Amino acid sequence: MKEKLVTMAKQAMKNAYAPYSKFKVGAALLCSDGSIYTGCNIENSSFTPTVCAERVALFKAVSEGKREFSAIAVCGGIDGVLTEKFCHPCGVCRQALSEFCREDFKIYVVSEDVVKEYKLSDLLPFSFEIDIPEESNS
Ligand code: THU
Repeated sequence: MKEKLVTMAKQAMKNAYAPYSKFKVGAALLCSDGSIYTGCNIENSSFTPTVCAERVALFKAVSEGKREFSAIAVCGGIDGVLTEKFCHPCGVCRQALSEFCREDFKIYVVSEDVVKEYKLSDLLPFSFEIDIPEESNS
């Protein structure tokens, strides 16, 4: 499954719309039911509306009713070319993932020929959270 996610993240990276930074990112998010949602970064001339690949994948999945996730693969590079450098999820995306993903959620960070593996809690210890009543937790 790791290899499939990596392949799908690389494929999704090709759809990145990044005319300003030229930095293209792709992500593939594995839901607990086995379905996979991909995302790419989508930039904007006004800059702040820009969204990262990870959040596009997450929001696509959540908007389709998914709430439980197992893993995400992320890759990125200038003009979509992977090098020996890794594209780690930004802080905002880590926090966005933490809303729905447990501490053991896996993050596969992909370079040209290496895949590093982390748990969400490795990359975002002490994430911000607010306890909400169980019945409104949907
Ligand atoms: N980007 C992502 O898609 N994911 C990240 O985790 C970090 C950054 C995008 C946003 C922007 O389009 C480009 O990379 C350069 O910051």
